[in-house]
Amino acid sequence: MSPGDDTETATKSAPSLFNKCHKFFDKSGDYAKTKDADLYPYFRPIERNEGTSAIMNGREIIMAGSNNYLGLTADPRVKEAARDAVAKYGTGCTGSRFLNGTLDLHLRLEERLADFMGKDEAVLFSTGYMTNEGVIQALAGRNDIIFSDKDNHACIVQGTRVSMADTQRYRHNDLDQLEKLLKRASEDRPDAGKLIATDGVFSMSGKIARVPELVELANRYDAALMLDDAHAIGVIGPGGRGSASTFGLKDDVDIITGTFSKSFSSLGGFAVGDHDVIEFIRHEASAHIFSASMPPANTATVLKCLDILEEEPERLERLWEISDYMRDGFRNLGFDVWDSETPIIPVVIGDMNTCFQFWRDLLDNGVFVNAVVPPAVPPGQTLMRTSYMATHSNDELDKILDAFHKVGKQHGVIGSNGHAKTNGHHPKGHHLNGSANGHLNGSANGHSAAA
Ligand SMILES: Cc1ncc(COP(=O)(O)O)c(C=O)c1O
Repeated sequence: MSPGDDTETATKSAPSLFNKCHKFFDKSGDYAKTKDADLYPYFRPIERNEGTSAIMNGREIIMAGSNNYLGLTADPRVKEAARDAVAKYGTGCTGSRFLNGTLDLHLRLEERLADFMGKDEAVLFSTGYMTNEGVIQALAGRNDIIFSDKDNHACIVQGTRVSMADTQRYRHNDLDQLEKLLKRASEDRPDAGKLIATDGVFSMSGKIARVPELVELANRYDAALMLDDAHAIGVIGPGGRGSASTFGLKDDVDIITGTFSKSFSSLGGFAVGDHDVIEFIRHEASAHIFSASMPPANTATVLKCLDILEEEPERLERLWEISDYMRDGFRNLGFDVWDSETPIIPVVIGDMNTCFQFWRDLLDNGVFVNAVVPPAVPPGQTLMRTSYMATHSNDELDKILDAFHKVGKQHGVIGSNGHAKTNGHHPKGHHLNGSANGHLNGSANGHSAAA
């Protein structure tokens, strides 16, 4: 015992607050069992990334589980733009846009995005998550009502929580229910401000929101309409302008948000809308004012990606061609891919155990995808969320289908002859020449890249 030691002090035991943490890591629990069997599909390190291929666990895999839709993360022009920005502005902004963190690059990007999206003005945030959280928190308060699709991304949900507004969630894409809620709110609380918030493309199903009907409901019930186009901008609509443009309705949607972490190969996010609304958000969104601004390299990356998106429209055409090819391929093998309409293609697997083992077997066959389990999907509907890049080669796509074919049969997810459940022809019978399916030019489904 040395002088000063307090022999009376009780040894500190773990605070009961942490009981849930210890329980989570209990050796007999699901988490530990999955880890021990090396089936845990999350937080897997990537050791090198070339876009469509990457190194994991020391071996090369085909990447079919990113949001790198335009395949630009490894583009030499984009990398050069990022390097040049670091050389000119340094590595970070060390402050928020409000104070010392505004660069001329940020202003240029805001102008460019407003112009690209055909809206008055744009405001940048440091992530897509912060964008949705910040926009909702700024616009909606205690006296307002938010109507939110039950399948919305977590950051919209978080925005509704921090806003303190009355939040009413409607069943996924159930606009009849939405209308009932809007009607009742208009009768009961005629003075409350109303906001309808929805993903423009749903991140797990790859389904596009019903924008025309949403616009109509918003107009009828004096509600503002906000679309989170994280998986839509740079992916769908004319020139990649997103879900509202897909239906020719950009002027009818009040606020469109987007992220730079997907097709724009960077990190950050933005919202576009009318001048007054965006200026208000700029001054009222906590996430904008009290957090450091997008680093220079991230900002320059997005500007370069926008150049490439505008100069190389064939990228979007290729992305759509690939999406159709893969959807057909999975269906022909007998897999259920829900009603995906975009480069996000969910492949339904079933129970949790099969899901983890399926994921691991795909990895062992050289294909990386995302394993999705409840609560992100309903129980028994676990899935492999696959997603595609404009830069995937035909050979890589066929390898992905071959791996799914093999592992799907092994686990009984598809019939023993693999592709018997639909029309039975092997996906390799499809050729990526663009002429096989009639809706690549946007005329049939109205939402292709070239529409
Ligand atoms: C629909 C949707 N919105 C917002 C985000 C958040 O974007 P970020 O990763 O840029 O924060 C995501 C990311 O997964 C998303 O899927």
